[in-house]
Amino acid sequence: MSAAFKWSSIMLSTTLGYIIPGLSIYILIYVTYQIFLHPLSSYPGLLIAKLTDGYNGFYAFQRGLHLKTRQNQLTYGAVVRQGPNKLVFNSIKALQDIYRNDRTTKPKAYIALGPGLSIQTTITAIDRHVHRSRRQLVGQVVSERFMRMFEPTMIDQINLFIQQILPSALNSAPVNITERSKNLGLNIAGLLGFGYDLGLQTSEENRFMFDMLHAGSLWSSIFLQWPNARRFRLGLISLRVFRQLRGKYLSVVEKMIASRQRQDKDAQRDLYSVLADALDSENGGLRQSELWAEANLFLVAAGDTAKTALCAVFFYLSRNDDCYKKLAHEIRSTFTVGSEIRGPALAACRYLRACIDEALRMSPPAAGVLWRESLHTAGDLPFTVDGHVIPGGTLVGVNIYSVHHIAEYFPDPFTYQPERWLDNTMPTEKKRIMRDAFVPFSLGPRGCAGQAMAYSEISLAVAKTMWYFDFERAKGRLGEIGAGAQGAGEGREQPGEFQLLDNFTASHDGPYLTFHCRENLYEDLNNAESREG
Ligand code: HEM
Ligand SMILES: *[C@@H]1O[C@H](CO)[C@@H](O)[C@H](O)[C@H]1NC(C)=O
Ligand SMILES: *[C@@H]1O[C@H](CO)[C@@H](O)[C@H](O)[C@H]1NC(C)=O
Repeated sequence: MSAAFKWSSIMLSTTLGYIIPGLSIYILIYVTYQIFLHPLSSYPGLLIAKLTDGYNGFYAFQRGLHLKTRQNQLTYGAVVRQGPNKLVFNSIKALQDIYRNDRTTKPKAYIALGPGLSIQTTITAIDRHVHRSRRQLVGQVVSERFMRMFEPTMIDQINLFIQQILPSALNSAPVNITERSKNLGLNIAGLLGFGYDLGLQTSEENRFMFDMLHAGSLWSSIFLQWPNARRFRLGLISLRVFRQLRGKYLSVVEKMIASRQRQDKDAQRDLYSVLADALDSENGGLRQSELWAEANLFLVAAGDTAKTALCAVFFYLSRNDDCYKKLAHEIRSTFTVGSEIRGPALAACRYLRACIDEALRMSPPAAGVLWRESLHTAGDLPFTVDGHVIPGGTLVGVNIYSVHHIAEYFPDPFTYQPERWLDNTMPTEKKRIMRDAFVPFSLGPRGCAGQAMAYSEISLAVAKTMWYFDFERAKGRLGEIGAGAQGAGEGREQPGEFQLLDNFTASHDGPYLTFHCRENLYEDLNNAESREG
């Protein structure tokens, strides 16, 4: 017994005697390499961030990576090495060089968003040809023509949104806009994807889907930043609660697809009708598993982003009285009844558009860095970003939140000023720069496919709300929710700024608003309902 003990302790100390020096030497070499010899070693940045992507992973977990990245840029300058293999830039030139360039592609880390490398989707595809064919499919759903056909469905959903506010307005009870707009957003996405009404605005039944979406998007955003952490995913999947939630979620998606498959493919105008054509087509169309993945990601892309924009617009309007008044005037003088609010007349409301753009500038729903990998292309001219030659395999990107707050492009960047988008006295050059630096939907071939749809959804929701109600921020503590505050953390101190918790797409809380009915205009909504019913 004691001999065995002695023997094992000798073993242990000899092993440690090798391991510890061995490990120390390894770490020393690794650190020396990263700091002095790595091709990116001359770029400034925080030491820990140069050594491991765990740095990005940690702040992604805290949901403040977009803020941390901006602070690092303020400390280290226009180009920061943030990750062993990553450079973050901050200029309009860099945006063009990185995102409008066939020398870059999405990095492998994007599999964090999808089920795996073998199943490609529009958002996660790495191969340019695969992407192009998928994008063509999805593009049909968000085309002009398609959108016109979908508008009545969208309007029904927005009327429901207004009707759900009505009881609170009659009692002057505060309304949590994050809650309402996430239900609206995902419900519209379900209809657009599968002609399926999830009933989220009126019933609790399917709302558990958000738990899954949110857990999923937090983990995805960590893995996207820190691909090695994907190993922990196995741990996550072995958690019973997570497995159950995921199972329940997938069963709803399955129900949506199955219910849609029972109908004729042309029975509805939706993503399914387009994808089903590709399923049928013989020339290497779509596999069933890919349809699934495409469907899943579409729900997130279309449903979880628009809600943030909507909340931000309401937040800023409730805190900027002049803007509120100007917008109310525009909406109420352009239309004579609620049902007129739609189509080209709505799209022509310039102040409304400026209010939306300014909210997207200050609180972009995708606030962080969308990484792109520089491709190795031997023999070509070097790939440069903002004048820097970038080695093949490096990940490069621009932090959207940062570029939207560059004072040179946007004077008083933390002030909500829709007027900046309408200033006719501004020199054309300045205007162009501002437009080029405004990238809430990203840009280039991988930019958002649903931009026009997003504007239409947000415009309808804001204009209709303003038509039927007056609103203001809730009294007391509730009215503070969603805003920055002293002590809320570095970069979260501006009381006039809507706070984003960035998990790839952002989450947030509030604003809480109190609504007041404008006379009895709401009665025409009930009429509209009985007409349909
Ligand atoms: C305010 C709302 C929205 C914002 C801010 C937004 C933003 C973005 C951004 C930044 C990307 C690029 C992601 C990346 O590089 O990884 C993207 C991609 C995409 N978005 Fe949106 N989006 C919004 C609404 C929508 C809607 C309503 C739809 C569908 C109707 C949609 C469909 C897509 C699709 C399909 C892609 C993938 C594009 C590709 O890789 O080809 N988005 N979006
Ligand atoms: C408002 O709604 C969101 C989304 O459902 C929720 O996460 C948040 O906790 C709500 N806010 C409060 C203060 O209850
Ligand atoms: C982001 O992650 C947090 C923490 O899990 C979660 O509470 C929040 O709802 C998530 N939001 C989104 C949109 O993913």
